[in-house]
Amino acid sequence: MKLSSSAHYALFLLSSFLGLSSAESSHLNDDSPCVARSPTTGLYFDLSAISLSPPELKNGKKVVKDARDDSWHAKGHDYPANFTINFCAPVIENVTDVVGIESSRWKNVSAYYKRDDKVYSIGEQASEPIFRGRKLVLNYTNGSPCPEEGSMGSSNISKRHKSTIMSFLCDRDAPATVATPSFVGTLDSCTYFFEVRSSAACGGIAVDPNAGGLGPGGVFGVIMLIAVAVYLIGGCAYQRTVMHQRGWRQCPNFSLWAGVFDFVKDMFIILFSSLGSICRINRSRSSSGYMRADTDGGRGGVIGAIGGRGGRGQGRDVDAENRLIDQLDEEWDD
Ligand SMILES: *[C@@H]1O[C@H](CO)[C@@H](O)[C@H](O)[C@H]1NC(C)=O
Ligand SMILES: *[C@@H]1O[C@H](CO)[C@@H](O)[C@H](O)[C@H]1NC(C)=O
Ligand SMILES: *[C@@H]1O[C@H](CO)[C@@H](O)[C@H](O)[C@H]1NC(C)=O
Ligand SMILES: *[C@@H]1O[C@H](CO)[C@@H](O)[C@H](O)[C@H]1NC(C)=O
Ligand SMILES: *[C@@H]1O[C@H](CO)[C@@H](O)[C@H](O)[C@H]1NC(C)=O
Repeated sequence: MKLSSSAHYALFLLSSFLGLSSAESSHLNDDSPCVARSPTTGLYFDLSAISLSPPELKNGKKVVKDARDDSWHAKGHDYPANFTINFCAPVIENVTDVVGIESSRWKNVSAYYKRDDKVYSIGEQASEPIFRGRKLVLNYTNGSPCPEEGSMGSSNISKRHKSTIMSFLCDRDAPATVATPSFVGTLDSCTYFFEVRSSAACGGIAVDPNAGGLGPGGVFGVIMLIAVAVYLIGGCAYQRTVMHQRGWRQCPNFSLWAGVFDFVKDMFIILFSSLGSICRINRSRSSSGYMRADTDGGRGGVIGAIGGRGGRGQGRDVDAENRLIDQLDEEWDD
């Protein structure tokens, strides 16, 4: 009985340690750009590994070896254009004369295609990948204006803009910093769909190494819990099989723990009864017959309660105190 409740308590502590640390790390990592946390698996997905930066920036960061001067490409196949894409960041290429986009926002274009020597943006930079169910999705909005739907509508409600939805697929065989976008299709030349295969889409346990796993305190706590669990389980097994104890007595060092418990309990009782006697003494000082250390009243009640074993003729309380003190002495003698 005691074993099972202790084990439950240990498990509760263990899970609270683990839960605490994972809550901390999610708090740290969810704020990072280009990172998403799967609500189903709890894994972190860091797309910044496949997010390209311009070469000069890479040089500034001393990352020279994989500096690219072009973004990721996707063939259009039956669509009359090829696509250029970057993830969570604008494309590396200098895009100019983007259809329907003022020049101040040219540097924000994250995906585009060229057709008849015109550049069409299919979305502006966004760095918040989200999970839609189990799908890791990134979308870009605010691209070039969509083509007019025929001429008959002519409803001038705010013009729609081209946008892009990318779905990321895990590819464990791909090199760490490589992404392969494939154009899936577009129905109205307004929203474009891509599938991106990359090992960055496979998810990891934690992105920030400082926040990953258990801190030193957590590790210590887990070790302590395991030690306590081993002590309880092993002790019980020993008491049960070797010493043939049953019930409460099969708990390891039962008498020791029972003694500690009784001691604490007795101390409480002594404390409270001496508080009681202080009150009594204050009420009628002279009525108590012979009290050894209690001539000045007040605090003397405590001393009298602990040290005075001669009995003060105060009825049941004193007897109870003496019994407790005797019991205490026996336990200390053990
Ligand atoms: C797309 O790129 C391929 C080569 O990767 C090329 O053969 C094709 O002509 C390009 N399509 C367009 C519309 O530019
Ligand atoms: C973009 O333009 C800048 C100057 O405006 C130039 O230094 C840089 O090389 C260009 N980058 C590419 C990829 O063409
Ligand atoms: C364009 O990108 C810059 C950073 O490069 C950002 O500060 C600005 O807000 C972006 N503009 C829009 C309209 O998103
Ligand atoms: C596009 O992404 C933003 C977050 O960046 C999200 O709030 C929005 O719901 C997404 N829209 C679609 C249509 O997926
Ligand atoms: C549509 O826009 C044109 C100008 O571009 C304007 O003359 C016309 O009144 C608008 N129609 C409606 C229904 O708002």
